[in-house]
Amino acid sequence: MTELMDKIKKRRTFAIISHPDAGKTTLTEKLLLYGGAIHLAGSVKARKSNKHAVSDWMEIEKQRGISVTSSVLQFDYDGFRVNILDTPGHQDFSEDTYRTLMAADSAVMLIDAAKGVEPQTKKLFWVCHRRRLPIFTFINKLDRYGRNPFDLMDELEKVLNIRAYPINWPIGIDGHYKGVYNRLENTIELFEDDTSHGANKLKSTTGSLDDPKIKEMLGDELYENLCNDIELLDMAGDEFDMEKVNTGELTPMFFGSAMTNFGVQSFLEKFLEMSPMPQPRMLQDGTILSPENEKFSAFVFKIQANMNPAHRDRISFMRICSGVFDKGMSVYHKQSGKMVKLAQPQQFLAQERTIVEKAYPGDIIGVFDPGIFGIGDSLSDSSLKLQFEDFPVFPPEIFARVQPKDSLKRKQFEKGIIQLSQEGAIQVFRQEGVGLESYIVGVVGVLQLEVLEYRLLNEYSSKLLMNQLPYSVARWVYAEDKKLIENIKGLDNGMLVYDKKDRPVILVNNEWSLNWILERNPGIQFLTVPADV
Ligand code: G4P
Repeated sequence: MTELMDKIKKRRTFAIISHPDAGKTTLTEKLLLYGGAIHLAGSVKARKSNKHAVSDWMEIEKQRGISVTSSVLQFDYDGFRVNILDTPGHQDFSEDTYRTLMAADSAVMLIDAAKGVEPQTKKLFWVCHRRRLPIFTFINKLDRYGRNPFDLMDELEKVLNIRAYPINWPIGIDGHYKGVYNRLENTIELFEDDTSHGANKLKSTTGSLDDPKIKEMLGDELYENLCNDIELLDMAGDEFDMEKVNTGELTPMFFGSAMTNFGVQSFLEKFLEMSPMPQPRMLQDGTILSPENEKFSAFVFKIQANMNPAHRDRISFMRICSGVFDKGMSVYHKQSGKMVKLAQPQQFLAQERTIVEKAYPGDIIGVFDPGIFGIGDSLSDSSLKLQFEDFPVFPPEIFARVQPKDSLKRKQFEKGIIQLSQEGAIQVFRQEGVGLESYIVGVVGVLQLEVLEYRLLNEYSSKLLMNQLPYSVARWVYAEDKKLIENIKGLDNGMLVYDKKDRPVILVNNEWSLNWILERNPGIQFLTVPADV
């Protein structure tokens, strides 16, 4: 095996998708604990409320104690190099959250056992599903009362339309589970009571289902219940099929508790074994690029501006797709047609930023960006000059009309709006008949509007006038006969605007209005993504 292939095989790059409070921070922290990257659990949590280092770049973050931008954490486990992409939730849910998924090879869907599938999980799931990403499900908070495991399997199927294959199964009574049974290996893991509240790794005893010692530890009743559950799963459930997992049709399911560490280690080990290594990537011309290609290539999936407000710098995060990254290398930037030096390359090992010497497919590096990179840009060896397929556009859900308070500052205002849209922080729309004095901006999360206001003032000295609009649904409008689109101008319950590529987009209050318009305008179609992507 080549050295490159060896590195690729040992890399896992994934995102955790969940609804706020399902336990993503806690699980991330425990994965770092088991990876030896932190010694006592609690550090990531501390970061959340007591900001420093990684994302300490903006007053707004410090004031709110939340992370506006996503980053990546890296650790080693059992010979694997693990890259966890952080997907911001809470109020800072934004397009960044979606775009981060473009850099992942798989996703861990974290679900609160008591709450089941929640709205944000659903949104993120569909983005993953569209990309056919393998999805691994971790049902969390098993240390307290939750829903019946069979009900949760059912819910995944009903709400997300995905079949689940439980790899492990909780043993015991709801709220007092004692351990898990691994269906693929026919082994049982019983956890010892722990007094450290999850700060230390959890001790456990393992054995097979027929082991008399294990039988005795469980007691007759629990043992019998477990055997019945397994029989039912084997009879009524799906067969395990790795191919279906790889195409996102079947989700391996795990049960555990991130807080008490119950099931965390066995989940991590199984996940590393089953999840895909860095995958080939599609290029714009329809060809596929293998990660084994010796020539370097990467794409930008996230831009973080002004990490240091004293300098107007930005950091572009890129995912390496093929070849080897060497510190100091220059690469071809397809969008500008120029060679650029990837300066000050950084990686995020546990909570520290370090300068990268070498990086491989699947790895994420952040490089200094003098303002030339955009989201989705392609970088590659000068002999490749390739371009990756376009990033999907996500329909925004919050809209506002913005204009500069002081019309003399119009230039700075426009520059700021254009740069922030290029960075992917906002989507910009133009209303027909309205000149350049105001724009409509669309965002996915409400905090993005505050970020926009803050950054325009602080970085471009432009104070904004902003009026939030009553719309929450955007659809790209398509019609064979372009004249039909004229008919939906001037609606009472909607507004027709144009995106930066001049494609028509309708903004309405709700899905019901969409149907109302569709019924009265045959020949019109509403699309969640532009027709030409
Ligand atoms: P998030 O990043 O997904 O938003 O969730 P986070 O890890 O912050 O967890 C949200 C809450 O759920 C926290 O409680 C956390 O302790 C709790 N939690 C996470 N995993 C488990 C689990 O396995 N079992 C139980 N019972 N709780 C869990 P909190 O009260 O908001 O914070 P804290 O006081 O614990 O710090």
